[in-house]
Formats: sequence, structure tokens, C-alpha cells
Amino acid sequence: MTHDQVVIVLTTAAWSGGVGLVGGLVVWMARRASVRWLTVGVATVAILAVVAGTLATAHAMFISSHDVGVIGLVAAVAGVVALAFALAVGGALARWSRRLRDEARRFGESGEFANDASGPAEFAALSEELRNTSERLAQSRSRELALEQSRRELVSWVSHDLRTPLAGLRAMTEALEDGLADDPTRYHAMMRTEVDRMVRMVDDLFELSRIHAGVMRLSPQPCALGDVVSEALAGADSVARARGVRLGGEVEEDVLVTADPAGLSRVVSNLLMNAIRHTPADGVVEIRGRAVPAGVELSVTDACGGMREEDISRVFDVGWQGSAARTPGPFDSRDGAGAGLGLAIVKGIVEAHLGHVAVTNHDPGCRFLVTLPG
Ligand SMILES: Nc1ncnc2c1ncn2[C@@H]1O[C@H](COP(=O)(O)OP(=O)(O)O)[C@@H](O)[C@H]1O
Ligand SMILES: [Mg+2]
Repeated sequence: MTHDQVVIVLTTAAWSGGVGLVGGLVVWMARRASVRWLTVGVATVAILAVVAGTLATAHAMFISSHDVGVIGLVAAVAGVVALAFALAVGGALARWSRRLRDEARRFGESGEFANDASGPAEFAALSEELRNTSERLAQSRSRELALEQSRRELVSWVSHDLRTPLAGLRAMTEALEDGLADDPTRYHAMMRTEVDRMVRMVDDLFELSRIHAGVMRLSPQPCALGDVVSEALAGADSVARARGVRLGGEVEEDVLVTADPAGLSRVVSNLLMNAIRHTPADGVVEIRGRAVPAGVELSVTDACGGMREEDISRVFDVGWQGSAARTPGPFDSRDGAGAGLGLAIVKGIVEAHLGHVAVTNHDPGCRFLVTLPG
């Protein structure tokens, strides 16, 4: 580079730089103004920097006064063009951001975001983010609706399930009172059964409400899965025998799981009783336990003939009993049947242990699979 060129660069850098600094300061002070004025500010600083550099080099005698006139004219015209361009771009930016603001406002009012990803990448990203938020909101709204719906269903189911045995009890007590019962002992036994069922149901409801309120007290300790399962099998043996259902399967030796003993045996016996109840005579119910990398896995397989897809998604719902199960009549012997709370309790207990429970169809029936962290 020649000496002259160095001088030109330095002079221009000094003057244009000065203009840039002052302009930067002004733009900084006006940073709260509309984006339209910011773009105009940037264009103005650019033009003024050219003008300042030109005048400074002219002053240092590198440009003749005639050329200064020419450059001045060029700078003026280019300046007008640049300003117009800056105004247009700034206007567009302002318009895009206004549209986004309006959409955000509508989003606030309706809870739904109409995605209109116009404008530069940042606006599109913001718009995308809002759309995601809107989707999440919609999801949680529908979750809430479903919860509300299931709560309403539960109340109506529970009142149904209480009213039916109560009506039966009333009929039986009236018959006893009037001396119309020809076999009082049988009546007493039936009354006892009904009362037991209602007590079970109220207990279940109480347990569920504690699970849902998050106040269920767990005292986890190392339990031998094999022992818990053997206990449950022993408890279910008489029912299984009465129904002609065979119990099978095995638990790997020495599998330990850290769990609340009472909760865990509740889980196992609920699953086992369900499986037995849904398995026809001569069917087999299999219960298996093993250690897996994630902890322990417990499966209960029955021979219920499989569940429909839409039922699979509902079995763990509070109060749900399938379409045919909620039979009226106080004297039906749906032995072991609760009020559709058993699996909700299972799920509640398992999840309180940070575990997971799911059901799949598994020929010739279905399989409930519980996974608990070791
Ligand atoms: N092992 C199973 N095989 C087939 N269906 C089942 C099984 N366990 C539960 N179900 C279905 O899920 C419903 C809910 O079960 P649960 O919560 O234990 O309530 P309940 O036993 O009081 O009916 C049952 O009514 C039944 O329709
Ligand atoms: Mg049950």
C-alpha cells in the first residue's frame, strides 16, 4: 500500500469511525423507539460516515473540490435511496411484529394461536414457540376436561354402586322385620356379604383419595418379591380353586425390591384377583417376577380372552369397569369385584414408587406388567 493510501484509510477510519460512534450512541439512546426508526438511524449513520470520510479526505487534498461536488451529489441521491429502503424495511419489520403482537393477543383471549410465520427467522421462531405453547395449553386443557369428566363419572358410579347394595339391604331388613323371610340365616349371610363389599369399597375410595392427595405414607424397605407373591398366591388360592382356575408361574430367586410391603402386596393381590376373576374355569393365571436392569418386573397373565383396544386405555381409570361389568341387582355375586377402583389403586401405588404399570393383550388373555425401580 502506498503512503497516500495509508493516510486515506486512516483519515477515513478516524472520521467515519467518529460518526459511527456518535451515531451508535444516538441509536442506543433511541433503542426503545420503533424498529422503523432504528433502521433509518442505521442507514443515516452509514451515509454520514461516507460523507464524513469524503470531506476529511478532501480536506487532506486527496480529492479535488470538483470531485467533492460530484461525490456529494452521489451521496445525496444514494442517501435518499438508502433512507427509503430503510424506511421500507423498518416498516415491514414493524408490520410483522405488530401482526405477531395481534396474534399473541388473540392467543391470550382465545387460547389458540393461529400460526402465521411471516417475517425474518426470529419472528418465525417466536411464532413457532407460541404455537408450541398453544399446543401444550390445549393438551393440558383436554387433560383437565378428561379429569373432570372422570371425576363426574366416578361420583355417579360410586353412588350407583352404593345405592344398589343399600336397596338390597333395605329389602332384606324389611323382609326380616315383617317376618317374611323364610330363611333368616341366609338373609343374614347375604347382608353380611353386601356390607363387606361396601366396606371394601369405602376403604378403596379412602385409599384412592389419599393416593391422589399425595399423602399416602410409604415406608419403603427391601422386600423379597418371592415372599410377597407367595403370600398373595396363598390368599388367592381358595378363590382360584372355587373357580377352577389354576395358578402358575414363578419368581426368580432372591429378587429384592425396595417397596412399601403393604402397598406392594396390595398391588400383587389386586392384579391376581382380577386375573382369576376374568379367567374361565380350567384357565391358567401366571405370575412371574424377575430382576431387570431397570429394577424388577412383575407380570400377571390371565386367560380372559383379550381386551378391546379402547378398554386397554381405560382399565386404570378410577371407577372404570368396562361396559358389561356394572350389572345392577343387589344379589349378583361378582365376587372379588370392587367398584372399578382396584387398578386405579394399583397404578397409584406403583407410580408412588416411581414405577410403571401397563396392560397388553397376550394370548389367551391379557398381561399386566409392573416395573419397579430396584
Ligand atoms: N385381568 C383382567 N382381565 C380382563 N379384564 C380386566 C382384568 N383386570 C381388570 N379388568 C377390567 O378392568 C376393569 C377395572 O378393574 P378394577 O379396577 O380392578 O375394578 P373391578 O375389579 O372392581 O371391576 C374390570 O372391571 C375389568 O373390566
Ligand atoms: Mg379388581
